[in-house]
Amino acid sequence: MTNSQRLKAIYSIIRKILIKPSSIFLVLRDETEYKSYIQKKYSKTQFPTVDINQFFVDGQAEINHYTFLDGSSLATDLAVLKSIAASYPTCEYMEIGTWRGESILNVADTGANCTSINLSPIDIIALGLDEKYAHLHGCLIKDKSKIKTVYANSLSFDFSTLNQKYDLIFVDGDHTYEAVKSDSAKVFELLKDDNSMIVWHDYGYNPETPRHSVIAGILDGIPAAAHSHLYHVSNTICAIYCKQNLNVTILESPVKPDKVFKIQLQSCPFES
Ligand SMILES: C[S@@+](CC[C@H](N)C(=O)[O-])C[C@H]1O[C@@H](n2cnc3c(N)ncnc32)[C@H](O)[C@@H]1O
Repeated sequence: MTNSQRLKAIYSIIRKILIKPSSIFLVLRDETEYKSYIQKKYSKTQFPTVDINQFFVDGQAEINHYTFLDGSSLATDLAVLKSIAASYPTCEYMEIGTWRGESILNVADTGANCTSINLSPIDIIALGLDEKYAHLHGCLIKDKSKIKTVYANSLSFDFSTLNQKYDLIFVDGDHTYEAVKSDSAKVFELLKDDNSMIVWHDYGYNPETPRHSVIAGILDGIPAAAHSHLYHVSNTICAIYCKQNLNVTILESPVKPDKVFKIQLQSCPFES
């Protein structure tokens, strides 16, 4: 979320509270209500955690195209996504939510065939969001021929028109419960085979704190039979659907670290 989106969200909340003061309780209750909802319905409030090293090769990963700006995923999120993409001979990849292009460019670097589904700049402006923000979408993607961009609202988009199945799908668009549920249900139908995976962003507010509205959206979105293949990836805010056998632990915050990461930064000039 950009600062401008945050300001608009805060403005809308304050407006609601001014019009109807009791709605403050709706805002405050929201996350706790989702927590009790999934506890009651699914007897869980978080997914088992898989160690990030289960996706890395020799404990290593390298990412590129990283801006460290507002809306960037964590470096570890992108490293997991890229490592998974690299594990397929030629990964067929689709993502909902591209923003500047950091996640899709990292996946494209593995030789994957990439498709981006994102609101068009016109749709973004029509939502009342900033024009500069709208036009910065995809700004890092210099070679547009490598990435298929579909301007669409994932909530109304007919994914069958893509006429394709995917190895890896990244769900990182609208993070409200309703949108996560809708996106999850739709992309689940697009998985190619039993080796295919879905990665959801914003499973947590941070790598130790689950975001229960998103978890509820995932659980209500995909078939119940698939729930046993849902995990959180350690040191990230990603959840994953994966049918491979993975070793798990149950995360208890605050976490006592069992690893630290070595990060080497290189600043590269960028001209759009
Ligand atoms: C968090 S950003 C994506 C970040 C990107 N995946 C990365 O890691 O670099 C979310 C993006 O989803 C887009 N978006 C939000 N709601 C959407 C919807 N309903 N359909 C398609 N795109 C949407 C927004 O325009 C925004 O750019």
